[in-house]
Amino acid sequence: MGLKEKHLLDMQGIAPEEIKLVLDTASSMKEILFRSIKKVPTLRGRTIANVFYEPSTRTRVSFELAAKYLSADCINISAAASSVVKGESLVDTARTLKAMGADVIVLRHPHSGAPYHLAKLVSACVINAGDGTHEHPTQALLDLFTVQEAKGELAALKIAIIGDILHSRVARSNIWGFTKMGATVRICGPTTMIPVAVERTGAHLYTRIEEALDGVDVVMMLRLQLERQQQGLFPSIREYTRLYSLDRQRLALAKPGALVMHPGPLNRGVEITSAVADSAQAVIDTQVTNGVAVRMALLYLLAGRFAGGEE
Ligand code: CP
Repeated sequence: MGLKEKHLLDMQGIAPEEIKLVLDTASSMKEILFRSIKKVPTLRGRTIANVFYEPSTRTRVSFELAAKYLSADCINISAAASSVVKGESLVDTARTLKAMGADVIVLRHPHSGAPYHLAKLVSACVINAGDGTHEHPTQALLDLFTVQEAKGELAALKIAIIGDILHSRVARSNIWGFTKMGATVRICGPTTMIPVAVERTGAHLYTRIEEALDGVDVVMMLRLQLERQQQGLFPSIREYTRLYSLDRQRLALAKPGALVMHPGPLNRGVEITSAVADSAQAVIDTQVTNGVAVRMALLYLLAGRFAGGEE
């Protein structure tokens, strides 16, 4: 399901031309971020509801800033501070927000598939801001934008995604996004953290990080998601770090000038050393800035076209 159907739920169902439209629109939006007054009237009168059932810094704040820079009204709901604690369902919460005028619902939820459920039952536009271990499409779009901005094009690039692939909605969305745009995606991590039949997505599986990094244009490190996993997927954090952490020596195996990316939040000293995370090759802060531009583009493309009764 893509932008033509008024929701952004995943990268699996989005067409390459829709990805291109988002990236081109984000380019125009990024220019607004560097003006002295970061405000345009584009979405005046529209209301965006950020509904977050899991913690977030980057995604929630960037959607809020994106809405404000486009002059939309923005409200933030966290499960802990809403009637969810009294037993209200997700759909009833969303219907309540829609009844108060929300045009777009940005949803982060611990259960994979929750945004699809909402999109079927509520008439607002729904944007998936991360659903369980399934997808995080707006993260993938900002990652694609960051790589395209730095490298000029996406086709023919080699991208290595390293770490806890099993629990990573970022990895899943990026595999779909980069392969749709003609890049080659290598994935690497402990065997216990690789999803079954992952090659069906088009990604190439590597077990040794040194082989996965050899000659790549982009290295994307993933956070070790200890909160989502059972015990016993690897012997110890020290062992994981020894085998899969990105340090200067390993980074030297990638192409000279290869980009280092991380969706955040970082576990410094676990999946990435501070020397690499703070190096000139790291574009981690640029990813965060570009997150605002990409989310402005998405709000513009969805709330501008589908909200307020226009279809
Ligand atoms: N990358 C990402 O989704 O970060 P947050 O959890 O801070 O939103």
